Amino acid sequence: MRDLIIVGAGPAGYVAAEHAGAMGKSVLLVEQDKLGGVCLNRGCIPTKAFLNSAKLYEHALHAQAFGVTVKGASFDYPAMHARTAKVQATLVGGIASMMKKHKVEVVTGTATVIDRNTVKVGAETYQAANLLIATGSRPFIPPIPGLADNPAVVDSTGLLGAEKLAESVVVIGGGVIGIEFACFFALLGKQVTVVEMLPQICGNIDGEIALTIQKRLESQGAKIHTGAKVEKLEGNTVFFTDKTGAAQKAKAETILCATGRAANLSGIGLENLNLAMDKRHITVNDRAETSLPGVYAAGDVTGRWQLAHFASRQATVAVNNMFGTPDICRETAIPAVIYTDPEVACVGLNEAEAKSKGVFGRVVKMPLGASGRFLAETEGVRGFVKAVLGGRDELLGMQIVGPYASEMIGAACVMIENEMRAKDIRQIVFPHPTVAEIMKEIMF
Ligand code: NAI
Repeated sequence: MRDLIIVGAGPAGYVAAEHAGAMGKSVLLVEQDKLGGVCLNRGCIPTKAFLNSAKLYEHALHAQAFGVTVKGASFDYPAMHARTAKVQATLVGGIASMMKKHKVEVVTGTATVIDRNTVKVGAETYQAANLLIATGSRPFIPPIPGLADNPAVVDSTGLLGAEKLAESVVVIGGGVIGIEFACFFALLGKQVTVVEMLPQICGNIDGEIALTIQKRLESQGAKIHTGAKVEKLEGNTVFFTDKTGAAQKAKAETILCATGRAANLSGIGLENLNLAMDKRHITVNDRAETSLPGVYAAGDVTGRWQLAHFASRQATVAVNNMFGTPDICRETAIPAVIYTDPEVACVGLNEAEAKSKGVFGRVVKMPLGASGRFLAETEGVRGFVKAVLGGRDELLGMQIVGPYASEMIGAACVMIENEMRAKDIRQIVFPHPTVAEIMKEIMF
């Protein structure tokens, strides 16, 4: 009998396999598709590659502002595709080598869980002392008349796979996926309409940040409708009621449905385990344990944070607990990034959340224009850093909008994890000139 069987090789599954393998445990990793899961093959990585191409194109168009002339800037969509595929192949190869290094046995096929110790893949039966379910999620398609089986409608996977770039797109759902794709199309000069049912885009992010991104997209020509209700689709046309109650319609070559993701729970034999479920997810505690001893779950299938880095941490916690090192998955400093232009990065509580939890002390904020490096390297971009402090002046949350926000937010995660107060943060020496210095300079 092996030590561990993992079902699903996304950022939860392959990280768990690496971690357990490095401990010298015997691990079997079952994946029906490519190693890396949605993140690497149909999500985080390809979208970042495409977005970077679009950002470069936009920079080339506006290079004159920096005293650089780029004549006849254009883009080549098939070349973007080819480059993205190359990046993915390199990363998939990297995971395969990592599995080899740690002696993880990788089996390609669909796993069916028979009981807590037994999994079938095709005709083969495998057994292990522990089981980790990391089967991820897939796009959720809401029951809107005319949406399902409409050839004009794609989900994020379909859009990433499209061989031709649509000239116009209507995005249903202005969450993270919808807004990143809206940004991609807007940067490439395509016609973009976003229809979002909530009062703001980007979910429950800080309202000022949501508005900043909305205005930026609008300045690039995108039309954004918030508080809108999609009524039906007819071919390439989306009919919706806008926030004033007026009937509207938007037509486009492609309609992207980005209305959230649903956990992959069916077709894997979960009924044989009879696990406790929370709505449409597997219930886990902060040790990544399910209701059945020896059975763990991590990643999107647990419905906590649908973020690759959280999935990886949760998977590591599961492995630590199953092999005798008690560990808990803290959730106070989980960063979230939206790779728009400029980027958005957030961690911890925003102002509204801190107030509703009764832990709000004060908020400090500074525009990125106060940074020498920001002024030296950008034109026509706005951004800011906002920090939310608690009653003891400890950092509770930070929100950044601006170039490289994603690379800066890690420092705020460390500060929150260590419950640092404004006065402690002021003592940190940041390199100069960097935009990240603002994280310290706002702490007065
Ligand atoms: P989401 O939950 O972030 O956004 C879905 C949006 O669709 C919501 O704003 C919702 O109000 C709206 N919506 C739902 N039904 C609608 C309807 N009938 N009409 C209009 N709007 C409707 O889900 P999304 O964007 O699909 O992303 C899924 C997950 O993937 C998220 O949890 C996200 O965190 C993760 N992700 C993370 C990324 C990153 O870290 N940069 C990138 C992409 C996805």
